Amino acid sequence: MNYKQHLDHKIFEIVSKAAAELQLECYVIGGYVRDILLERNHKKDIDIVAVGSGIDLALKVSELIPNNPKVQVFKNYGTAMLRYKDMDIEFVGARKESYNRDSRKPIVENGSLKDDQERRDFTINALAFSLNKTNFGELLDPFNGVVDLKNKIIRTPLDSDITYSDDPLRMLRAIRFATQLHFEIEKESLEAISRNKERIKIISGERIVEEFNKILSTEKPSIGFLLLHQTGLLDLILPELTALNSVEEVEGHTHKNNFYHTLEVVDNICPNTEDVWLRWAALLHDIGKAPTKRFNKKQGWTFHGHEFLGGKMVKRIFERLHMPLNQKLKFVQKMVTMSSRPIVLAQDIVTDSAVRRLVFDAGEDVESLMTLCEADITTKNPKKFSKYHNNFKIVRQKIVEVEERDHVRNFQPPITGEEIMSLFGLQPGREIGTLKEAVKEAILEGEIPNEYEEALAFVIQKAKKMGLQKVD
Ligand code: CTP
Repeated sequence: MNYKQHLDHKIFEIVSKAAAELQLECYVIGGYVRDILLERNHKKDIDIVAVGSGIDLALKVSELIPNNPKVQVFKNYGTAMLRYKDMDIEFVGARKESYNRDSRKPIVENGSLKDDQERRDFTINALAFSLNKTNFGELLDPFNGVVDLKNKIIRTPLDSDITYSDDPLRMLRAIRFATQLHFEIEKESLEAISRNKERIKIISGERIVEEFNKILSTEKPSIGFLLLHQTGLLDLILPELTALNSVEEVEGHTHKNNFYHTLEVVDNICPNTEDVWLRWAALLHDIGKAPTKRFNKKQGWTFHGHEFLGGKMVKRIFERLHMPLNQKLKFVQKMVTMSSRPIVLAQDIVTDSAVRRLVFDAGEDVESLMTLCEADITTKNPKKFSKYHNNFKIVRQKIVEVEERDHVRNFQPPITGEEIMSLFGLQPGREIGTLKEAVKEAILEGEIPNEYEEALAFVIQKAKKMGLQKVD
């Protein structure tokens, strides 16, 4: 079978011509080929392998493109990259690789196409289409990647211990592809991941998080997290999460298994959001429960303060894994810290002031928080399930009503500190803070609307009680 019709993008014609001029063979390889055969939306990057110098090929390709796009050369790796239209094209020379055991840095030797395919991660990623004039569009598949694609199998071209030990990131890639594509990891390969799990320690946090983000962006991340757990990788990467995997019983009282509960919450969130950070929040929302778990006769199992501790633990995890320490961290911390607020609120009669306080504290993120909390309802008791969901519907509705009236989402006090000072002829001091706080409280409690006139009257009255006189 020939796949010429899939290679109709102009770039392939140009690369083919450049290779012919340099008299070297070249191929499209990797994810681009895999996704074409899977009829999956293919990506914007193309990997080209040259039997010879990938850098020379890239330079020649640039010469043949009218405005000669800039070629980025990575000499140490023997690779080069250029952008053509909306595509990133990466060029590499075919190689035989052996890896230094203590790092991911390979010792590279030139090799044939088959050598190169053999050193790749999975048979489904080792597929190549020829760009050579003599057999343009022919599929080269020495490791039966097409059969594995059909049977939905993740398999390594070489002995799995070699492939994973060469580059331990591949253990996460296997699990990520299994999750994204709904493929199964071949038994021998899965066992090799367990055997080699400790090697994940040489991989940087950034690379690990990149794979976690991809797993969290799939339709059903629990597939990946169960595999991470089963192979022992999760215990090495996020022990805070696997610590939730226990159910204890004291005097007939048990609590739910918060590890499996967490995975359900992450899955529940998925269809509703594109935001990987809300999924991180879901993944971490209960991590404070393992260290705060206590049993007492009166209340049974408790997790007092787990949200607050969880928020602190989030920061340590972000630091350890070299995740962004900016507003993304703040967002996840906020979600974790506030993750019980709506459910507490919804268990009772939903009052306006409780909703107003929720909106005030969550600010811009109140909808995300509601999404997280709805996902958190995993009870199998249908009565409770619909009660909580109905209450959350009321909360959502009240959020809109309260916002229309009081605009507490990005709360701006209706009366400023300066105004209070000039009203009562005050110098900066404690009274101003007290009065401002009193106005805010009165608004949140619904005693007054968030309006200037009402706030002014309220402040005057309150100040009088404090013994302050209005100056004219
Ligand atoms: N590759 C590998 N080992 C790695 C990373 C990549 O063997 N640790 C090879 C695979 O052949 C892969 C190709 O390099 O197909 C390109 O890698 P990359 O762009 O990271 O992944 P894709 O397979 O293209 O897929 P995706 O973009 O979905 O990650």
